[in-house]
Amino acid sequence: MRILVVGGGGREHAIVRALARSSARPELLCAPGNAGIAADAICLDVGAEGGDGIVEAATAEGVDLVVVGPEAPLVAGLVDLLEARGIAAFGPRAPAARIEGSKVHAKELMAAAGVPTASHAVLRSHQHALDQLARSSYPVVLKADGLAAGKGVIIAATEADARRAVEVFFVERRFGDTEVLLEEHLEGEELSLLALCDGENVVPLAPAQDYKRIFDGDRGPNTGGMGSYSPVPGFDQAGAEEIADAVHRPIVDLMGRRGTPYHGVLYAGLMITPAGPKVLEFNCRFGDPETQAVLPRLRSDLAQLCLAAREPGGLAGATAEFTDDWAVTLVLASAGYPASSSKGDVIRGLGEAAAIEGVQVTHAGTAGTEEGIVTAGGRVLNVTALGRTPGEARDRAYEAATLISFDGMQMRSDIAARAVERVAAG
Ligand code: AMP
Ligand code: GLY
Repeated sequence: MRILVVGGGGREHAIVRALARSSARPELLCAPGNAGIAADAICLDVGAEGGDGIVEAATAEGVDLVVVGPEAPLVAGLVDLLEARGIAAFGPRAPAARIEGSKVHAKELMAAAGVPTASHAVLRSHQHALDQLARSSYPVVLKADGLAAGKGVIIAATEADARRAVEVFFVERRFGDTEVLLEEHLEGEELSLLALCDGENVVPLAPAQDYKRIFDGDRGPNTGGMGSYSPVPGFDQAGAEEIADAVHRPIVDLMGRRGTPYHGVLYAGLMITPAGPKVLEFNCRFGDPETQAVLPRLRSDLAQLCLAAREPGGLAGATAEFTDDWAVTLVLASAGYPASSSKGDVIRGLGEAAAIEGVQVTHAGTAGTEEGIVTAGGRVLNVTALGRTPGEARDRAYEAATLISFDGMQMRSDIAARAVERVAAG
């Protein structure tokens, strides 16, 4: 079996490694991949965004399955294109991927399916926004409707902040011609619950927690994610099933009834509020960096699960089994991230880090040069460590990460500290 993974970040590296453990012993390809993925898969020089390029490459390479990592090609219809050419692909088709492509559409689905989420209004013009802001209580959250790589969300503490935010959307038009969601600000702790879906059935993966802000103590601007861990104290597999009953299953049922069945990973970003879990966002793909912490714990065969998810009802009776290990993932980011990123800084210590027991280093933004492996993006590397306790996993991850160095390297020092404390407190 030949499997092509589309994408070139830490998430795709983790997917490649999990697929490599399949009993089918698949040959793995990745487009475009990166310098680290090249050690685990044949990298093809085709950008993830190039729909026709991916279809041509998949045809030329005779692949049996394409697994699409990032949201942009899914929302643009890559799975539709592949399937029209008879190539099996894991991921939602465009009409289903719209759950991530349009936040207004996601809200409509949640309302129709009775899924708990923050209350909201849709702002359609600058004047309409100003009228709504005058009637709101603060803080509020403002979100651009379309894909914005995590940058389209503004939390406004006061009406003055919110007025400035709506200028960004409606006057500067930083996110183009967009509708804007005005949302109630929810308080609580965040949880990511990803589930495999086959149009009918929902198989939850292990819960994970992501750290979105750049600095320790959840300060500073939002990023794509600076670390993660799995599982999450207080949410065992029974807890995950309960959330899937309240969140994922009603959405999958509704989409099935509407003729846009959801196949692939449905990622719910949740706020655990005093009134129960509420959805912050849906994504139509694996999370980054949650996947780097979740998949190393997966005991089930990912390739089999991905193939089964393509068939309507193909996951009936399936479960995703996980080891009892804890996993902690640290993101090593380049100088300037998230506002900018630094390229070409030589990375040292990769071999030493990977030699620590339980540690695997996945590459997010790296490139191979004559000088060695260098930085090539904002998020550069992910260091994941497994351990029997959250403390052991966390210690191993930090021990390994401190062996790695490059100019301007940024890393949070508090990833999974909360989980260690909670488990220690019983
Ligand atoms: P989103 O892309 O919608 O998940 O938003 C990015 C981040 O903004 C989330 O992970 C939260 O940290 C924060 N956020 C989004 N919506 C809300 C909300 N309604 N209340 C509080 N925080 C939010
Ligand atoms: N970790 C956040 C995301 O994948 O969207």
